[in-house]
Amino acid sequence: MILQTKWQLDTPALCLDLDLLEANVQRMAAFLADKPAALRPHTKTHKCPTIAWMQIHAGAIGVTCAKVGEAEVMARAGIRDILIANQVVGEDKIARLMGLAAYSDVMVAIEDLANARALSEAAAARGIALRVLLEVDVGMGRCGVAPGQATLDLAREVCALPGLRFEGLMGYEGHAVMIPDMAERTAAAHRAMGLLVGSRDLLVENGIEVAIVSGGGTGTYAITGAYEGLTEIQAGSYATMDAKYLTIRSEFLPALTVLATVISRPAPDRIVTDAGLKAMTKDFGWPEPFQAPGVTVRGLSEEHGTLDVTDPGVALRPGDKLRFIPNHGCTTINLHDRFHVVRDGALVDVWPILGRGRAQ
Ligand SMILES: Cc1ncc(COP(=O)(O)O)c(C=O)c1O
Repeated sequence: MILQTKWQLDTPALCLDLDLLEANVQRMAAFLADKPAALRPHTKTHKCPTIAWMQIHAGAIGVTCAKVGEAEVMARAGIRDILIANQVVGEDKIARLMGLAAYSDVMVAIEDLANARALSEAAAARGIALRVLLEVDVGMGRCGVAPGQATLDLAREVCALPGLRFEGLMGYEGHAVMIPDMAERTAAAHRAMGLLVGSRDLLVENGIEVAIVSGGGTGTYAITGAYEGLTEIQAGSYATMDAKYLTIRSEFLPALTVLATVISRPAPDRIVTDAGLKAMTKDFGWPEPFQAPGVTVRGLSEEHGTLDVTDPGVALRPGDKLRFIPNHGCTTINLHDRFHVVRDGALVDVWPILGRGRAQ
């Protein structure tokens, strides 16, 4: 059978509305067009080189990745300018990073001198100048060296190491991106970026060139992206969006949905679908039924989604299909092999999610 509409897809199926995806990509590009900061979108969300290339064609300077495996996928798709916004630690990973550096212009986050020395030795042995960004903890309390003097001390050491090219600083304000109140989110992001740009100033005053200052997520792109001194924004979720981000960033559209089939209506007030935890995650909350009034998600088990019917007029029966907006796009996409790409309801393409599961 030749499929013509998304409703004919076997389920559970991850669907991507191409019009909405393109609108999101264009909106971010338009916002940054007159800002000094460029876009280096995080591919940890979509994990798909096709979308990464769409973002680059719209003006992105390269991509951000979370893992070496994700970066390998992007490099194999021909993307050269890649930031791994994570520490690459251990002999095996460093060897893979060196392999990657041979055919891409990869850049990696560092925060620790011993790790920097290990990277330096490996790069120098292969005659590579590996680009590095020093990760600064701007308040999130995850990775990163303390801002200010500690950043300067480490930058001095790193600049003296062979095989490394110090490019600048990165600081992800992850503690700010989801703050619901815009004034509070702005204040938290400004505080974080103040620490990052303040650290840059200290390095520059001490004669260290800082070409790149990188940060920002979907929740803060308009704050961090307009902050004086930022050269790059790492937002990723904006392209596909999810239910969680839609509550605070409604200017972007829900391009990502999971199509499910009703497999049971055991009672008038209960519906069961075939999309459970292996199709949609719940780390940010239950998925939202999309354009399906009168039903709410009661729970997900591995292969079942259980819905409460709140409107007795809901006529859904076994075999009927309905859609959900995942609450967390990044972890949900990682469960699927491909996007079913839809325009005006018609299936127009299938894009492999090549970075899916590349957690190493
Ligand atoms: C290092 C880093 N940069 C940027 C982001 C922004 O991603 P998002 O667009 O999903 O907010 C994240 C999200 O986890 C991140 O870990």
